[in-house]
Amino acid sequence: MKTSYDVLIVGTGIAGLNTALGLPKNLDVLLISKDYAWECNTFYAQGGVAVAKDAQDVAVHRRDTLEAGAGHCNEAAVDVLCSEGPAAIRELIERGFSFDHDASGRLLYTKEAAHSTQRILHAGGDATGRYLHLFLMEQLPFPVLYNTHVTDLLIDEGTCYGVRVFHAGKIFNLYAKKIVIASGGVGSLYEYHTNARTISADMQGICLDHGIALADMEMMQFHPTAFVLGHAVRKQLLSESLRGEGAMIVDDHAERFTFAYDPRGELAPRDVVSRAIFLHKQKTGREVYLDLSAFSHEHFKERFPSIYYNMRTIGYNVPEQKIPISPAFHYAMGGIHTDLRGRIANVKDLFAVGECANTGVHGANRLASNSLLEGLVFARRVAQEIAQSDFSSRKEHYFSEAEACLSQAGDKELKNELRRLMWRYAGILRDEEGLAKAQERVEAMLALPIGKFLRLRLAVSREIILSARRRKTSLGAHTMVVRN
Ligand code: SIN
Repeated sequence: MKTSYDVLIVGTGIAGLNTALGLPKNLDVLLISKDYAWECNTFYAQGGVAVAKDAQDVAVHRRDTLEAGAGHCNEAAVDVLCSEGPAAIRELIERGFSFDHDASGRLLYTKEAAHSTQRILHAGGDATGRYLHLFLMEQLPFPVLYNTHVTDLLIDEGTCYGVRVFHAGKIFNLYAKKIVIASGGVGSLYEYHTNARTISADMQGICLDHGIALADMEMMQFHPTAFVLGHAVRKQLLSESLRGEGAMIVDDHAERFTFAYDPRGELAPRDVVSRAIFLHKQKTGREVYLDLSAFSHEHFKERFPSIYYNMRTIGYNVPEQKIPISPAFHYAMGGIHTDLRGRIANVKDLFAVGECANTGVHGANRLASNSLLEGLVFARRVAQEIAQSDFSSRKEHYFSEAEACLSQAGDKELKNELRRLMWRYAGILRDEEGLAKAQERVEAMLALPIGKFLRLRLAVSREIILSARRRKTSLGAHTMVVRN
């Protein structure tokens, strides 16, 4: 198999695919997918893509993003997202992607929490991610190496030369002039999450091994409305656009209690609604539901076909029957620190983009549906940056193919323990005592004879815990409580 390329892209979600689509076709590009290409968070995204509807809305989108981000956003990154968003969407439509529209061809926009207007484009009703992913895959002019785990980055003296991979039972190196990490967030570190099963923080852990900075790692977003009962590892998301279009959060006394926590009720930013549900359950012991009675049966089935079929398949007669809900881990605002062109300080030829990256665009709490837009906008920038570089020069450096043991018997139990630990102590509500306890246990696990993949998860978990311990007061999704 060929082992040398112009560009390697790790990840086949929206950020990886859109980076690839922005590169000149004459480059020799390989995408690396851990599983099937579609086993990524993009594929499961329901709500849509947020974008300014017109020139006036750019400033409003910017303001909403900054407000949801709780004053912690990098404003320059937000400017890029909101001002370049419309062009990225136009480009997608010009390539042939079809967002949902009415009979006269006018785009249909929905609303989600903390947006001051309807500005969320969607496709296939509630299957935006699936439609987008399929479309981008169909356009892809480059090959994908499937079922391939990246085990290391090949870095020497501040330059990245490629990646080491585990594929078809073998470990080997793949070399490239430019390497892009677009591998998604950290969902599998938590007991309850809405992420694809491939999203396990390996690349963030590998970056830590190489001294590459992660930023804002205490900023982990919990989606307020997930169906967490049942044994599936990935919990069923109940899109925020349901609430944007009339669904209510109630308890088993039919009380719409979120208004007691914030005057915006169900449409307050995600961190606020998640905390309200969590605290209300804790204080009252009541069950909490998503009430879909605002929808007629036919309209619900047509507008939210995936949720309709998924919930009916597991026995919920929606929209007539209420669905029990809980917050679940959803999105990492923190990640591999980059500039606004995806570059990583101190490591030449290495880029990060999408959820794995941290440009500061989401601050302390991501505004709903800004993540697919981030994947489109920042991937275009990374592609432009790479396209402008000089590919004619030789870049050779060979690395040993020796690799640590990737997994050990017993790792699975420890992984599950880690998930419970992170959910309990580094989840929606945190306190110093719990974080210290979690850190102690993580350190103890790190000292055990474990495989590399588990070690990487533990290293990233420790980073989340340490960042949370450093931030003593609450901000956005990071909530510190004082226990009596
Ligand atoms: C949703 O549909 O609620 C998820 C959208 C997002 O994560 O931004």
